[in-house]
Amino acid sequence: MAKRIAITLLLFLGFTFAAHAELRKFEMTIEELDLEVAPGFTVSVWAYDGQVPGPLIHVKEGDTVEVTLTNNTTMSHTIHWHGIYQTKTWQMDGVPDVSQKAVEPGDSFTYKFVADKPGTLFYHCHVNTAEHIDLRGMWGPLIVDPKNPTPLEKKVTKDVILMLSGWASAVAKDYGENGLPGREFDFFSINGKAHPHNQPVRVKKGDIMRLRLIAPNIPVAFHLHGHDSLVTHKDGLPLPKPYYVDVLPMQPGERYDMIVEMNNPGIWMAHDHNEEHTTGAGKEGGGAMLVFEYEGIEHPDFYMWKDHPYDPDFYMTESLKKGYGKHNNPSFKAFDPTEPRPAAKQAAGGHGH
Ligand code: CU
Ligand code: CU
Ligand code: CU
Repeated sequence: MAKRIAITLLLFLGFTFAAHAELRKFEMTIEELDLEVAPGFTVSVWAYDGQVPGPLIHVKEGDTVEVTLTNNTTMSHTIHWHGIYQTKTWQMDGVPDVSQKAVEPGDSFTYKFVADKPGTLFYHCHVNTAEHIDLRGMWGPLIVDPKNPTPLEKKVTKDVILMLSGWASAVAKDYGENGLPGREFDFFSINGKAHPHNQPVRVKKGDIMRLRLIAPNIPVAFHLHGHDSLVTHKDGLPLPKPYYVDVLPMQPGERYDMIVEMNNPGIWMAHDHNEEHTTGAGKEGGGAMLVFEYEGIEHPDFYMWKDHPYDPDFYMTESLKKGYGKHNNPSFKAFDPTEPRPAAKQAAGGHGH
C-alpha cells in the first residue's frame, strides 16, 4: 500500500514538473523555393520548412527547445533566436564565425537552449543578413508564454501574429547577389502576402485581441482604424506603463504586443502608415495592409473582400490555440518553380473580387 502511494506520488510529481518545463524537440529544414508575395510577383526564398514566415514555434518559458536544422539549399545558413538570453549556451546563438560555423548545404546542426525570455520573439538566419533576412524571407515567430502572465494578458480571447516585411523585385531572383548596393523595397507584405492577397482578421464585439507585431526588415508605422490599442509589451517584456496608440512606430527587429478591446463593430482598415508600404511595384492599394471584420456586420457590395474565402489561421490564431509545439502553416507554403503548380494551390492563392 505504502509502495503504491509512493509510486503514485512520484508519478504525480513527475507530471507536475513535466508540466512546468518540457523538452520541445523539432526538426526543421531550409528549402530553396519561390514565394508568391503578390499575384504575378514571386521571390526566390530560403524558406524554413518550406514556408515564409517560417513555422510558428510556441513554447513555455523555461522549456528546453531543441531544433535540428537541415540545410537543403545551395548556400550556408543558421538560426539566430532573437531575444533568447542563451545563458551558458552562447554557442547556440546562431551567428556564423562568432558562435558557430554556418550550416553548409546538405549539413545539419542541432540548436538546444532554454526558452528563458518570455513573449513575442522571432528567429532568423544570421548569415549575410542583408540578403537572408531582407530579401529571402528567413524569419519566423517564436512565442514563449510567460510563467506569470499579466492580468490583462489572461483576458486575451484572440491572438494575432503580424510579420510586416518589404521585398525588392529588382533582385528577387538573384540568389547570392545580396541586392546591395541599390536595393530598393518595392513590395510589402504581412505574413509574406501583399494586400489584398492576404486575409482579413475576423473578430466579434467583446473580443480582447492581442496583436503581436514583428518587423523583420522594415520600419513600420502600424495604424488600426477605429480603435486605440494598448501597447503592453516591447520585445517580449511587459512595459511598466502600458500606453495607448493609434499609430505604433517600429524599427526593424522590434516586436510590440498591443491589446485592443474590440468594442466598435464595423469593417476597419489597418495598415503601415509609411505610405510607400501600401504600394506594390509603385502602384497604390497593395502592401502591408489588412482589414478587421466584425461578426454580424454585413459586407456591402463594394467591399473589396466581399465573399473572400476566409483562412482563420493566416495570422496563426488557430495554431496558437493548439498548444505547444512547432506549427506549420499551409498558407505560407513556398513552391518549387521547376514543378508545375497544382491547380488547387493556385485557386487557394486567388482573391475574391
Ligand atoms: Cu540564411
Ligand atoms: Cu535579430
Ligand atoms: Cu488609414
